[in-house]
Amino acid sequence: MTMTALITGATSGLGYEFVKLFAKDGYNLVLVARNGQTLEEIKQTYTNVKVTIISKDLSVPGAAKEVFEEVEKQGISLDVLVNNAGFGLLGKFDELDIHEQLNMIQLNITALTELTYYFLKQMKQRNSGRILNVASTAAFQPGPLMSVYYATKAYVLSFSEALVEELSDSSVTVTTLCPGATKTNFGSVANVEGTKMFSRAMASDIVAKKGYQGMMSGKRVIVTGGLNMAGALGAKFMPRSLAAKIAKYVAGEK
Ligand SMILES: NC(=O)c1ccc[n+]([C@@H]2O[C@H](COP(=O)([O-])OP(=O)(O)OC[C@H]3O[C@@H](n4cnc5c(N)ncnc54)[C@H](OP(=O)(O)O)[C@@H]3O)[C@@H](O)[C@H]2O)c1
Repeated sequence: MTMTALITGATSGLGYEFVKLFAKDGYNLVLVARNGQTLEEIKQTYTNVKVTIISKDLSVPGAAKEVFEEVEKQGISLDVLVNNAGFGLLGKFDELDIHEQLNMIQLNITALTELTYYFLKQMKQRNSGRILNVASTAAFQPGPLMSVYYATKAYVLSFSEALVEELSDSSVTVTTLCPGATKTNFGSVANVEGTKMFSRAMASDIVAKKGYQGMMSGKRVIVTGGLNMAGALGAKFMPRSLAAKIAKYVAGEK
């Protein structure tokens, strides 16, 4: 039987790399993002699998539920959910636009939580399914100059790891992918290109493949890249005040 994967943020960066990986393995796809034209172009490209596109702004309250309802209406049963859509913003909290930051919380946290809620219920009923939540190495420490972004990713990691335990008697798996800086549109959207943080960005295909393989083998948390792994480990053992100072240093000075 053909499996189906839903990927949010499928039009660029890591999301589009996930599209390629799932399509290569013969998965039917449900692709969600705002840009309907790009979604349509992707649909035309992947003719070996069935591609359903849902153009939706997931930062709008209620949009995630509408995605779930659309999938149900089309009679699609998901085997994999990839909560990938997200964005960041560089700047001091009080100097950035409040509405943009609230939209970030809505997308990075609320939409991810809602999609997980609705599809997890179905997966539990079938006692099968995989969820891949894309967090970041930002999840491991406070992030001055990207305070809300780092906090959203800390939520994603904490939430996802808690679910792993809740699902210990189930075959449904939840995996968190924690990439460090990666070459996608994220850098220009967040305005972090040229910062120290982005001086050693990894290739998006490598990062997505690590996430894909880790999810398929039921891993709990994946940190991509040796340096990022060392940074995540270091943040665990140093005082959070020091970790925050380091995060501020790498986000600063373009
Ligand atoms: N690149 C990095 O350095 C890095 C590092 C750590 C974690 N991450 C995480 O990786 C994930 C993927 O980001 P990326 O690096 O691949 O960035 P990207 O290239 O900017 O891709 C973001 C994707 O999300 C979609 N999206 C953005 N806002 C949306 C909204 N309101 N509703 C629905 N879809 C929306 C975009 O499509 P549309 O514009 O068509 O909506 C696009 O497909 C994010 O969660 C990000 O936080 C990235």
